[in-house]
Amino acid sequence: MCGIVGYVGAQDAVPILLEGLHRLEYRGYDSAGIAVRTKTALKVHKSAGRIDRLEAKLPRRLKAPAGIAHTRWATHGEPTDDNAHPHVDCTGDLALVHNGIIENGAALRAELAAAGHTLRSETDSEVLAHLIEDARADDLEGRVRQALTRVDGTYGLVVLDRNTPDRIVAARNGSPVVIGVGDKEMFVASDVAALVRHTDRVVYLDDREVASIRSTGFSTTTLEAQPTQKNTSEVVQSAAAYERGDHPHFMHKEIYEQPEAVERALRGRIDREFGVAHLGGLNLSARDLLDVRRIKLLGCGSAYYAGLAGAHMIERLTRIPTDAEPASEFRYRNPVIEKDTLYVAISQSGETADTLGAVREVRRKGGRVLGVVNAVGSTIARECDGGIYMHAGPEIAVASTKAFTCTLVCVALLAIHLGRIRDLSPSDGKRLLAALERLPDQIREILDQGEAIRGIALGLTNRQNAFFIGRAAGYAVALEGAQKLKEISYIHAEAYPASELKHGPLALVSPTTPTVAILPDDDLYEKSLSSLEEIRARRGPVIAIAHEGDERTAAASDDVILVPRSEPVLDSILMTVPTQLLAYECAVALGRDVDQPRNLAKSVTVE
Ligand code: G6P
Repeated sequence: MCGIVGYVGAQDAVPILLEGLHRLEYRGYDSAGIAVRTKTALKVHKSAGRIDRLEAKLPRRLKAPAGIAHTRWATHGEPTDDNAHPHVDCTGDLALVHNGIIENGAALRAELAAAGHTLRSETDSEVLAHLIEDARADDLEGRVRQALTRVDGTYGLVVLDRNTPDRIVAARNGSPVVIGVGDKEMFVASDVAALVRHTDRVVYLDDREVASIRSTGFSTTTLEAQPTQKNTSEVVQSAAAYERGDHPHFMHKEIYEQPEAVERALRGRIDREFGVAHLGGLNLSARDLLDVRRIKLLGCGSAYYAGLAGAHMIERLTRIPTDAEPASEFRYRNPVIEKDTLYVAISQSGETADTLGAVREVRRKGGRVLGVVNAVGSTIARECDGGIYMHAGPEIAVASTKAFTCTLVCVALLAIHLGRIRDLSPSDGKRLLAALERLPDQIREILDQGEAIRGIALGLTNRQNAFFIGRAAGYAVALEGAQKLKEISYIHAEAYPASELKHGPLALVSPTTPTVAILPDDDLYEKSLSSLEEIRARRGPVIAIAHEGDERTAAASDDVILVPRSEPVLDSILMTVPTQLLAYECAVALGRDVDQPRNLAKSVTVE
């Protein structure tokens, strides 16, 4: 969601904060601001729009040894200069940046205004600055703690006070805060992406923790002022993993690095001798897994669609009833948690509020939940009973690509693991694992068709609407394909199970509404082909994603993208890749902001 950076140390804070903001811009990007403490004053600069606009507004000679900065994705109040963070108290001596939502913000705002405070923004965050202003503890940490006892909701926040030199104070509840440990300098951010250029030593704050950060070190306490002990972890990703390199967009980079990402997701997890998958982090024995009678996958957005495709894989290989549900729906419908159900939370960032809420709901009711998570050390990863890391590497583009394919690779490994505990034979296990190992080269083959796919994508650019269809796991691919196209090209795209076409959407099929058909050569092939005929009979243009050598589909389509043959249960992985390229090329041709599409954020840490 929004991004936070803070710095205290011997260097000039301003360029460090701005560079950090650029690295976090993918998380939220409708306004930005910076506050620094100079020798004599606290200076705050804010601007609606992207970070470049903020930079252009900054006085050239602005220099300071400490500061905080923020890039915002609006929840309360429009993206204006006033609503941008940092927010200051009435004295102008204290500035604060905040991620999260203060649920009792409206009541606190009314109370503060009645007590004579002047609130300058429409945000819930600003109340925090005024609450700290009113707090009567001896030091800044104490005032922050006191203020936070008044607050319901989530926060990751950093405070800068003119009267408390050489220190910034941070606090966390439900919104990530990570401290970067340097040499005579300290950093703080909402995401390690902002820190990796400066340090690889980080400390993650826990919920209800407050940190006092000085240039020479830091200390932490609970909200009740009890000191806490923290461990320093090492960031394994290199700074280059967060860079765009020679690619025109992060999304391009992330699509094209999928072969290596999949290799990493598989590394060390394949036992060719016994045809089993090694998943060390599950924390569940074979005996525990034998008791599993049902599996439910939970996630939001692309993670949910990956869950839908993954549910097909698991059910097919294990015959355990499996389904997927949006985590956001699940958490609020007072779900029945069964002790022999295994819950699997899928999340690239590991910080999505709704997915985290679902994890907590399951655990609160005594259920077991595994995480399939990309961000190592993230909240979801830490709160699950066990899990599988995707190892996809940092994903920066808002539209998820490599995390989707790596999720499916991890779920396939889980399915094989569970299957081998049940009816899947060693030879079936070996065959499936060998097919997984072929995926990186097969993805390369698809990526090699980039030019041809661009040509096909150009044909979509003047369309208002598109359908995506598929059956079974292919329907999940269709959902993900439609999602990609709409989120980055802004062309309206809808996905339907191919079998549902004649129950409604066929009414809208016409020569101006193309359909992207996911059409693997599997046991539903003939049925899928008849769906194509239904579309063709209405003169609807068809782009088919089919298997190499499938001449009948090629003949029945206007355009066809061919993917290599794999085990049918893995088709959804390969068939997704052309849909990513279609959406990407279409968005580029339309001049869209591919990496940062309008109104969206990479990691939605609010409900
Ligand atoms: C946001 C992003 C989506 C993403 C979803 C879940 O909505 O825009 O691209 O799929 O969150 O994110 P997660 O980090 O939990 O996978």
